[in-house]
Amino acid sequence: MYGWLVVNGFLVSSKFSEIYDWLCKAFEKRGHSIEVYTNTELAFIDGTCRHPDFVLFWDKDIVLAKSLENMGLRLFNSSRAIELCDNKALTYVALKGRVPMPDTIAVPMTYRNIGYNDTGFVRTAGERLGYPFIIKECFGSFGQNVYMAEDIKQAEEIVRNNREPLIFQKYIAESRGRDIRINVVGGRAEAAMLRKNENDFRANITNGGTMEKYIPTAEEISLAERVCHILGLDFGGVDILMSSEGPLLCEVNSNAHFKNIFECTGINIADKIAEYIEKCLDI
Ligand SMILES: Nc1ncnc2c1ncn2[C@@H]1O[C@H](COP(=O)(O)OP(=O)(O)O)[C@@H](O)[C@H]1O
Ligand SMILES: [Mg+2]
Repeated sequence: MYGWLVVNGFLVSSKFSEIYDWLCKAFEKRGHSIEVYTNTELAFIDGTCRHPDFVLFWDKDIVLAKSLENMGLRLFNSSRAIELCDNKALTYVALKGRVPMPDTIAVPMTYRNIGYNDTGFVRTAGERLGYPFIIKECFGSFGQNVYMAEDIKQAEEIVRNNREPLIFQKYIAESRGRDIRINVVGGRAEAAMLRKNENDFRANITNGGTMEKYIPTAEEISLAERVCHILGLDFGGVDILMSSEGPLLCEVNSNAHFKNIFECTGINIADKIAEYIEKCLDI
């Protein structure tokens, strides 16, 4: 088969290019050819070029993803699934009442040029969630845009200094500095790790967390697989918090990095993705 790997033209770092190499190798060693295109290169595409059998869309350029789908191309993941994962508020709305999650509030939308000039809603949120509570920018990764508000003053300050879409979430104290990452491919949990940080409430490795091999419980596996099924993800990385009432969904990544999980478990998610796409295309 012949595929395209679509990546973001503005993200230039070895952390990303390494992932792209792994993905290409996974297809090439199965005898498939794959070409890498950036979203900047594809911005002017008109549909007359040779169409690939599949597109591995390793980007979050939803508009481009939808344009490619309009041309009849099959994207892994689909534009809709990427869109739902990329925005933590949309993830929450899609899953609310269907899987266990910490109590979450989608912050009312404001305009970027105006910002949150009225923070009155923060008090109501604090009364419902208690303190501390978690504030997340809807578009963020690696724990970089996740904050903890210890009291109303801090919460208001974080909101007032921010112009991004936000969610508020109940802080799951039992899970402080710990979460479980489960990589799902084709509806199956393929690899898992436990991430820990003794010095920060965020367990992300990029943020200083450490990882260890982890055998997830049946409940955690079923949560991760169900989340991917509901969101329509072909593959994804599901973050799970551990609470006294069982596992809770933290967030979902459509383009989950897989180098750490390989180092931790020896499982190569790129290979699993290539196998899965072969199966979907019946090759
Ligand atoms: N509600 C919460 N309660 C406790 N810890 C949390 C909560 N939400 C997030 N965290 C911690 O913060 C980390 C980053 O949050 P996450 O939602 O996964 O954002 P990111 O996209 O930046 O990884 C999580 O891995 C977890 O360790
Ligand atoms: Mg995360």
